[in-house]
Amino acid sequence: MKIAISGKGGVGKTTLTALLAQLWADAGRDVLAVDADPAPCLAGALGFPAGLLARLRPIAEMDTLIEERTGAKPGTVGGFFTINPRVDDLPDRFSVAHRGVRLLEMGGVDMGGSGCICPESAMLKTLFTHLLFRQDEVLLLDMYAGVEHLGRATVDFVDALLIVVEPTRRSLGTARQIKQLAADIGLDHLWLVGNKVRNEDEAAFIRAESPDLPLLGVLPADMGVQEADRLGLPVYDHVPSLRTAARQMATVLEKEIL
Ligand SMILES: Nc1ncnc2c1ncn2[C@@H]1O[C@H](COP(=O)(O)OP(=O)(O)OP(=O)(O)O)[C@@H](O)[C@H]1O
Ligand SMILES: [Mg+2]
Repeated sequence: MKIAISGKGGVGKTTLTALLAQLWADAGRDVLAVDADPAPCLAGALGFPAGLLARLRPIAEMDTLIEERTGAKPGTVGGFFTINPRVDDLPDRFSVAHRGVRLLEMGGVDMGGSGCICPESAMLKTLFTHLLFRQDEVLLLDMYAGVEHLGRATVDFVDALLIVVEPTRRSLGTARQIKQLAADIGLDHLWLVGNKVRNEDEAAFIRAESPDLPLLGVLPADMGVQEADRLGLPVYDHVPSLRTAARQMATVLEKEIL
């Protein structure tokens, strides 16, 4: 089962990814969670202890590795390098596990406008494709912004793209754009997930303004999320209302895509 999670900045992609990762890990599944944010914070949402956090390093920052695999130093533009470097060993070598969730941080590449090809972007692209081909039981991709990472060739492997929205027009506007991008590359199986929903009116707003996508479920607004962050605790443990809502979503997903 391969699930990508996207949506406007700050809507709750990482929170949802952490909830689903932990609940499937607790159910005994083999979970690989991938943090594709240039400023990774999924480890925090999963409550990784300091000792493990120190061991995590985003792939995009591994200059020596990138040079070794692509044949060029990161930062190089032009010149020759391999655009499909070897990456098959990276997920196991560089992921760090905690409570049954293996986490891999991709890190960010400044693409400098569309079409830029540099050693580090070749590395990340190849790694993304490889992850989609792997036979992990559950792969969760905490995406950054849109769905640009997901090339045409890999569309077949994503079982669901979840688009997280808040009850705001802006986040629903972004959802509409993501839906369009997904349509352009032929990606279907899209679901909307409402987050930070305070009452029935806000839930109704999301349903009414939905860009014609099925609503997988709604996570309530809960101050416990911020508290969990302050205390360094996993949202999954600390906020029962979100855990319950995420469990219902997981049940639907299991029924629909397993
Ligand atoms: N259900 C919720 N109730 C209250 N606060 C929430 C809820 N979900 C997320 N938040 C808060 O909203 C902020 C953004 O959440 P999160 O980091 O999960 O979003 P994101 O979409 O991954 O953000 P980014 O685009 O920066 O990666 C955090 O401060 C988090 O504590
Ligand atoms: Mg995030």
